[in-house]
Amino acid sequence: MKHNILLFWGCFLPLIYLIGRLIFDGLSANPIEDITHATGWWALVFLLLTLSVTPIRVLFGKNSVLRYRRTLGLFSFFYASLHFLTWLVLDQFFDWKAMLEDVIERPYITVGFVALVLMSLLAITSIYRLRRYMGNAVWLKLHRLVYLILILVLLHFFWLVKKDVTEPLLFILISGILLGYRVDRWVRTQLTRTQSFSEK
Ligand code: HEM
Repeated sequence: MKHNILLFWGCFLPLIYLIGRLIFDGLSANPIEDITHATGWWALVFLLLTLSVTPIRVLFGKNSVLRYRRTLGLFSFFYASLHFLTWLVLDQFFDWKAMLEDVIERPYITVGFVALVLMSLLAITSIYRLRRYMGNAVWLKLHRLVYLILILVLLHFFWLVKKDVTEPLLFILISGILLGYRVDRWVRTQLTRTQSFSEK
């Protein structure tokens, strides 16, 4: 419990740092762009941290790390919401028509928008009562959407970068390792199941 509280407050550090930069003139000539980039970047980092929990649990045999997954996932949603709000309020000034045009016409905004809608679904269903109401099997199936969200966010990042694609490629590499780990586990489980079935 103590560690989770520490993690909770620690997850605010990127926001505190960003506010510090805003107050003490640490941002560039285009502060809105800086805020959009920082919040989007942290939303993706928290998403990857959330997906790192299971491999860490299995590789190091530490079941206790599972309790941090929900906090990390919710903070990914928190930073993604700030990212979206920056675009909505500071970038588009609530110009709904221009926003709708952006969502329809610019593929990187379209995928970012779909990712955010799906993230909202996962965030809402992470409320304990709703999870209990849904039942574990349905909840787990729904939360597999996290893989689709990750792919959409990677596309969003890759599409928006105009020149140097090193950073999005690095994120794609890390995501590939995390997703590859799941595929490997799934294949192994299927193989074990087939083997035990044929032995019966
Ligand atoms: C409606 C939803 C979204 C909108 C409108 C949106 C919009 C934007 C915009 C305008 C940029 C900067 C583009 C530029 O530099 O030209 C950006 C960058 C980015 N966004 Fe989004 N985004 C959305 C959803 C998301 C979500 C859900 C995530 C992650 C979970 C995300 C992660 C990122 C990342 C990682 C960057 C690049 C940051 C960097 O350059 O370091 N975005 N987004």
